Amino acid sequence: MPGVTDPTVEPGDNPERPGELDPASFPSNVELWESHAQWWIDGFTAGADPEYVEQILPLAAAELAGARRVLDVGCGDGQISRLVKGLDESATVVGIDPTWNQVSVAAQRGGATGFVRAFADELPFPDASFDAVVACLVFEHIDEVDQAIAEVARVLEPGGRFCFFLNHPLLQTPDSGWIDDQMIEPPEQYWRIGPYLVEAETIEEVELDVHIRFIHRPLSRYVNALAANGLLIERMEEPAPPPGFLALAPEYTEAATVPRLLYLRTIKH
Ligand SMILES: C[S@@+](CC[C@H](N)C(=O)[O-])C[C@H]1O[C@@H](n2cnc3c(N)ncnc32)[C@H](O)[C@@H]1O
Repeated sequence: MPGVTDPTVEPGDNPERPGELDPASFPSNVELWESHAQWWIDGFTAGADPEYVEQILPLAAAELAGARRVLDVGCGDGQISRLVKGLDESATVVGIDPTWNQVSVAAQRGGATGFVRAFADELPFPDASFDAVVACLVFEHIDEVDQAIAEVARVLEPGGRFCFFLNHPLLQTPDSGWIDDQMIEPPEQYWRIGPYLVEAETIEEVELDVHIRFIHRPLSRYVNALAANGLLIERMEEPAPPPGFLALAPEYTEAATVPRLLYLRTIKH
């Protein structure tokens, strides 16, 4: 009923899912990224994050080797763009990101052909401009997923590759997490998986006062959108969390068989 509030729901809480934050009471996705760009840059780039150092960057380097014209969608501070340019100085490597506080740091740090402020669902490039597109931990923040995947397919030349990294949708399912159940005898620890099949927008407080918007989608949602745009899967990886991450988060060791990362290599047909 309009005007009537549930006294058990805290401001910012999601009235439909008590205990979760209400996305409607937060700024937009890009406004949140503008506010928290420095959190990402300080904590996850330039060697600060063991998952990037030990797992994501080596996989990206192997998957993008030999590419000549590369687009990095949602490039952040440009760490993947710099990596790819470092593989072959003569390659053209361009990064785009809609968050000014990310793309301006990318431009300052340099190391690629150029950085442009743009959204994934409206790429400012002609058809078939690139032989490789990479998107690393970006599409789980994008509302317009079908349009963004269609844009990736449009700017890729036939035979070109799309290197697609996601936080694994299984791990990212809202309401999932490590349960330490001391109420049963003997006590049991297990990984609880929330409603995986339900698409859901959530706000996660990833660190004190750092709120980021995530859109959970089951894997089939991505695979079918890719296929509908002629992007067919050639390789899929679900690597176990790397030792450097487990050293920092030892409580996760018990759940190390639940993958944190998903990687798909798709080829444009
Ligand atoms: C988790 S960071 C990843 C940055 C970079 N790909 C990396 O691996 O270091 C997610 C990035 O997605 C960008 N982003 C959010 N919404 C986007 C959109 N609609 N189109 C393109 N990028 C977007 C954010 O600005 C942010 O820089």
